[in-house]
Formats: sequence, structure tokens, C-alpha cells
Amino acid sequence: MASPLLASLLPDTAVLSDVDVSVGGVSMRELVATYGTPLFVYDEDTLRSRCREARAVFDDGVAFASKAFLCGAMARLAFEEGLCIDVATGGELDIVLRSGVPASRVIVHGNNKSPEELEHAVTQKVHRIIIDNFDEIERLRALVSSSQSVDCLVRVTPGVEAHTHEFVRTGQEDTKFGFSVASGDARRAIATLRDVPGVTLHGVHSHIGSQIFDAEGFAEEIAILSDLTKGDGFDELCVGGGLGVAYVEGEYAPTIHEWGSAIRAAAAKAGLDSNVRLLAEPGRAIVAQAALTLYRVGAIKPVSARTYMAVDGGMSDNPRPVLYGSGYEAFDVEHPMAPRPTAVRLVGKHCESGDVLIDEAWLPEATHVGSVIATPVTGAYGYSMASNYNRVPRPAVIFVKDGHARVVLRRETFDDMARLEV
Ligand SMILES: Cc1ncc(COP(=O)(O)O)c(C=O)c1O
Repeated sequence: MASPLLASLLPDTAVLSDVDVSVGGVSMRELVATYGTPLFVYDEDTLRSRCREARAVFDDGVAFASKAFLCGAMARLAFEEGLCIDVATGGELDIVLRSGVPASRVIVHGNNKSPEELEHAVTQKVHRIIIDNFDEIERLRALVSSSQSVDCLVRVTPGVEAHTHEFVRTGQEDTKFGFSVASGDARRAIATLRDVPGVTLHGVHSHIGSQIFDAEGFAEEIAILSDLTKGDGFDELCVGGGLGVAYVEGEYAPTIHEWGSAIRAAAAKAGLDSNVRLLAEPGRAIVAQAALTLYRVGAIKPVSARTYMAVDGGMSDNPRPVLYGSGYEAFDVEHPMAPRPTAVRLVGKHCESGDVLIDEAWLPEATHVGSVIATPVTGAYGYSMASNYNRVPRPAVIFVKDGHARVVLRRETFDDMARLEV
């Protein structure tokens, strides 16, 4: 018999009673009654506390990797908490600038920046552009004049195999990202970029992967980057993001503080010049635990092998289980403290057998058709990877704080989805 859900997987302000869960002082049952399901609920206090923790360890050197979850409210929140915002495409840049965050706090990534995206980043005078490949360097050379000052880092591939899913591993040799250290491309890129009039090269950047629990990969990365740039006189070194979070019971993830301390220790051990600012760009660790997704159960179907429980969302609002086999927990919002003895396969409403949210979810006996189910730790790479597959509208996103709920992204409508028809 599975015990009640561990509160450590919930947002910081979550309070459980026998019949309800409140987050940010707001009842989840009332929220569902007002806004319907599926619904993403983010606890502002958790978001702000993770931003502050990151700011405390990396000072002004931390950027929020907006790919993990982006909307205007999130960009503003991270900016208010003193973080830069990292964007990977022109679309992300557009949302961040529309939100009112100044370009001077934006870091532009991308392994295939279009000429327009690159030009936009240059003319907007973003804080840093992270250079990924030789074609981009030539594109930049054509764009920038010697009277300008375009601040850049160069993305390098240290050849580190982070201990994580292969689809989110990026530091190894065989990757589309960055310049290889081992092949000598990284050194050639540094020399080439230093030769581009109008470009100021501040240092190197690397990102070894995502959902990483152990600091060893980061220490290896820092040792390689530190060695690579010895004598260059750079003032910045970015270790990327990648800190993992616990999604299910039994998983343990270092805190942002522990991660930052391990990175600082690794930099000292590698002999990195103390004038070099250590930069980081966490995404998941800032937003994942801050949110939960609320669904309504629509059908329960026992078959010979198991029981299927279908909810009103699925792979369109959380593609991670399908993409990476990621695990989640579930609980019943009306019985959050009850034991969870019933095993079900929690599935969505899409026309795919693979549309599975949780392979084996444990729920109370009382959970029935019409119950509201929550999946915690869904704040990262859920909404941001959401799709309209099967023309299912994207859920609304609510921020809660101090007893108030505000819609930051309204629920998508059929009209929204039809607007591209010509
Ligand atoms: C360059 C870069 N920086 C930061 C991140 C954020 O990673 P995470 O959300 O695992 O912290 C990513 C994620 O893919 C990335 O590609």
C-alpha cells in the first residue's frame, strides 16, 4: 500500500488537509471550480525563493533558462529577482522583451540563429550572445561594425558525458551544440572571434545536459574549461544549467545552494583565476517544483492487465514521460492525506497508446470519475513543450500568492487554434 504523497515534492507553500490542498494560500478545489482543468498552478513564493537562492550563490552571474517555462509574468518575476533571462530563439526573445525585461538582461543562445535573430540580438544590444558555430561567426562579422560592442561568449563542448538521459545530454563530443575542445575547434573559434571587429569575447560557455544529480560532471566540465582558457584573460565562465530535481519519491537532488557551492569548489580546485566570474543558467531547478498540474478524471477502465485512468490532458501538456520516460507522482486533491493503495496507469485523452502520464500511479480508493488529480513537479518543460496535438487547447496557467490567484496565461480556445487557417 503506497503511503500519502511526500510533501517535499510539493511547492513550498502547499498545505494539506483531509479534503483539500492549498498552495499560496489558495484552495486547489476552488481554483478548479473557477478555472477548470487541466490547469497549471505555480506558487510564486517557490519561484521567488529558488531565484533568490540562485542569486545568493552566483550573485549577478545567474540567468534563468526560459526554455523551462516562459511567459511574460515568469520573465518579469525572474528579472525582479535579479536574474538575467536566457533565450534560445527569436520567439523566446520576443516574449521576454514584450514582458518589459530590458535587452541588457537577456542572453541569446541558439545552435542555428537565423540572420534575422542574430541581427535582432545585436540591434537590441542584448547582454550576451552565445556563439555556437563558425557559420554564425561569419554571419556576425558581416553584421557588426568596429564601432559597436557586441558582447559574446563562445559555447564549447568539453567532451563530458553527464549522467542523464541521452536526449538531454549535451556535453559529449557527438553533439550539435558548440565547438569541440578535443578537436581544437574551440581554440580556433576563440581566435576567430577575437579577430572580429566590434565583438568583445568575455569567455566560454558550456552546458553538459539536464536533470543531473551529481556534481562530478560539472567538476570535470570546469576543469576542462579552465584549462582551455588559461592565459586568455577572460572575465567570465558559464557552466550552463542542468541541475536535476526530484520528481518522484525516493529521488534526491542537491539544492541550488549545494550545486553552486560544488561549482565554486570545483573552480577553485581547477585553479580558475579568481577574477573570472562564474556564471550559471538553471531552468528546471527554478521552476519545476513550483508547479502542479490539475486534471479531472474522465474514465476508469479496468482491463485484464491493469486499470487505466484517463484525465482531460496528457502528452500535449506534459510530453516528458513520452519523450524521456520521465516518472511523476499523482495524488487526489480531495484526499491528499489518504493512503494510496490503488495502482492505475494514468493516461491522457490523445489518440496514442503512448499517451501515458504515469505508468503506475498510486491513488486513494476513493478516487473516482470526476475526481481532481494533481501531478506535482510539473513546472519545467511541461507548458513550454506543450502542443495542440489532436487539437487539444493548451491549459491555463495560474500564479498563486498570499491567498490570491491570477491568470498569467489564459486557457487556449478553439478560436485560438483556428486563427491560423486561411
Ligand atoms: C544552454 C542551456 N542552458 C541552460 C539550460 C537549462 O537546463 P536545466 O533546465 O536543466 O537547468 C539548457 C537546457 O536545455 C540549455 O540548453
